[in-house]
Amino acid sequence: MSSNHNSRRQFLKSSSVVAAGVSMPYFFSAKPGMAFATESKNDRVPIGLIGAGGMGCGNMRAASQWVDVVAIADADQNRQQSANKQLSGGKADIYDDYRKILERDDIKVVHIATPDHWHTKPVIEAMLAGKDIYCEKPLTLTVDEGKLIRRVQEETGRVVQVGTQQRSTFNLFTKAIALVKQGRVGKIKRMSAAIGGAPASPGIPVVDVPKGLDWDRWLGPAPAAQYRWAEKKNKKKWQRDPTNGHYEFRWWYEYSGGKLTDWGAHHVDIAAWALEANGQSNAVVSIDGNAKHPVEYKNGVPQQTDRYNTATSFNFTVKFAGGAELVIRNDTDNGVLIEGDKGRIFVNRKKLVGKPVEDLATNPLPEDAVKEVYKGFDLIEGERKGHWANFLKCVDERKEPISDVHSHMRMLNICHLTGIAARLGRGIKWDDKTEQIVGDSAANSMLKRKYREGYEIEMNSAKPAAVKS
Ligand SMILES: NC(=O)c1ccc[n+]([C@@H]2O[C@H](COP(=O)([O-])OP(=O)(O)OC[C@H]3O[C@@H](n4cnc5c(N)ncnc54)[C@H](O)[C@@H]3O)[C@@H](O)[C@H]2O)c1
Repeated sequence: MSSNHNSRRQFLKSSSVVAAGVSMPYFFSAKPGMAFATESKNDRVPIGLIGAGGMGCGNMRAASQWVDVVAIADADQNRQQSANKQLSGGKADIYDDYRKILERDDIKVVHIATPDHWHTKPVIEAMLAGKDIYCEKPLTLTVDEGKLIRRVQEETGRVVQVGTQQRSTFNLFTKAIALVKQGRVGKIKRMSAAIGGAPASPGIPVVDVPKGLDWDRWLGPAPAAQYRWAEKKNKKKWQRDPTNGHYEFRWWYEYSGGKLTDWGAHHVDIAAWALEANGQSNAVVSIDGNAKHPVEYKNGVPQQTDRYNTATSFNFTVKFAGGAELVIRNDTDNGVLIEGDKGRIFVNRKKLVGKPVEDLATNPLPEDAVKEVYKGFDLIEGERKGHWANFLKCVDERKEPISDVHSHMRMLNICHLTGIAARLGRGIKWDDKTEQIVGDSAANSMLKRKYREGYEIEMNSAKPAAVKS
């Protein structure tokens, strides 16, 4: 362990806590007999990274004070090499097939940051192989995949944190939820989640697959497709070339849900959490609205295959059983607006504003109000870093993390159902008990997807835990 690095426990002990907007020194009550890695002289967590792209590497840097990346799997050998160099000084074992990581006994924790279409399968297989998992959002591409993940998580008892790190931003989103729970906005009537729209692209030509990228493996469970890429002319520094591969997979419904799941997973999560914290139902009753796509859709399927196909603009109203409404839209300032019968607040990654926030000067939140909505966990500063700290603590203490599978799937279903309504061009009604769309067999068929042959989920993994397959 590098002497420049605090050990995980040291960091957790010496970090500051944020409560009701005030930073103060805090000391963890480290419990004796923590289940994981605490008896070791070196209490750093060996981790297997599956998907070493932008977010996978970014997360490993965020957690670098506590974890050692000992194995890396990626479908692109260029990314295996560069991640190995930057994250572990070239010392990690590298693999084309992530299942090699799942077979290793010395790795008990994995981070999955593959494209969205490649989440459910490794998450299930990792749970069955006895691993704890931090998986990037959105956890699934479909409602039915969520049901399977929920079941296997319950049966295996693995710790699964989803990468919706807004839940670990204590002075912003977490505090907004605390304000709601303390009754400062009253009964929630209406909310809005503004999440931006997907970009459109020109037709992107089929080209040779770049050296080192295993395109068949990258596609995995998704339908067979040719690799597309074009050099973007006059691009600004931050802009990427259009492709159906790295990063830009977000704008193809075959691999993602577009903005509805990419950013919906963040902001719809806050809206659903607000209802739950306020004791109001977040069971969906109906979803209605409109969307524009850059290509024509017929029966929910895009009719052109050479360009981005997820919605560029949309405005949907989600009605909940308790009477509240949520508008999911692309056309206004990114963030979440929560309006109740006593007040309204707006929150995004930069600010938390509204009269209930101003009133804190004279009427502060109770001392532990933020911690209370954070499931009573200690608050470790630093968004992604705090989210990782929460995960690692839950691994130690065998607890359910702040972004757990159940709350995640509850809100992700809202995003998936909105995506189905967008692609079909009609509203839907939802039966929350049976988890079925009412009276619409075409829409119900979109609650699941067909896995490409050879990439089905392996329910009989090498080391099955207590799961009946
Ligand atoms: N929480 C957040 O704020 C946040 C931000 C960005 C991205 N994300 C999420 O992180 C995930 C990755 O996004 P990204 O921007 O890093 O994409 P990316 O394209 O940069 O990285 C994905 C990597 O996964 C690899 N991969 C594909 N198939 C694989 C397989 N079978 N096994 C191993 N590796 C495989 C790819 O080759 C690529 O290197 C997405 O689900 C995205 O939604 C979350």
